[in-house]
Amino acid sequence: MTQDEAKLAVAWRAVELVDEGMAVGLGTGTTATMFIRALGERVKAGLRIRCVASSDASHQLAASLGIPVVSLAELPELDVYIDGADEVGPRLALIKGGGGALLREKIVASAARKFVVVADSTKVVETLGRYPLPVEVIQMALPIVQRKLANLGLNPAVRRRDGAAYLTDEGNFILDCACEQIPDPEKIAAEIRGIAGVVEHGLFLNMASVALIAGDGGVQELYP
Ligand code: 5RP
Repeated sequence: MTQDEAKLAVAWRAVELVDEGMAVGLGTGTTATMFIRALGERVKAGLRIRCVASSDASHQLAASLGIPVVSLAELPELDVYIDGADEVGPRLALIKGGGGALLREKIVASAARKFVVVADSTKVVETLGRYPLPVEVIQMALPIVQRKLANLGLNPAVRRRDGAAYLTDEGNFILDCACEQIPDPEKIAAEIRGIAGVVEHGLFLNMASVALIAGDGGVQELYP
């Protein structure tokens, strides 16, 4: 099974979790995109749901497929949030934000009763940190936050796209931290959170309810 086939398999498995009348949070990224497309097929077939998106890109995609998308103000409580991850560690601790949407993803995930992670098996790790940890930063605070993250040994680098600093949907910068290993995610999360100018970090701890992981053996369910 290729990585894309695995992503498609979990996307379709996750769509089975959505029932008539549900309020659904939509993630961001390639796996979430496959889920949104699959959900669009069900909506076209008559499923009635309402959704909140975690990024402008996912909002636009869902709307283009005829999926009703509203704001969190209209729909502040969600039945389920379905999204991918960059790494899935022990107790379903996650690194997210590879697609730059970590802030809105965390907000939408926090509004959901259930957070379903959809990922291929290459994302499952014994220790988080091989994937660079994204930290979203207020623009004016960039030099200070970068220095403080460097002092913590986290090797931050400004994310760039098309030759310029990458800007999130909220107009912030992202510092990608090459941590290599995060043996104590709670500790590092608290340290990063303590820096003025940090808006959010990509460690999603004690948030995921279940992870659907696709690989050669099919789709497996992991629980915290
Ligand atoms: C976006 C995310 C994505 O969920 C994460 O990057 C995984 O993406 P993909 O499904 O493309 O591998 O956190 O901010």
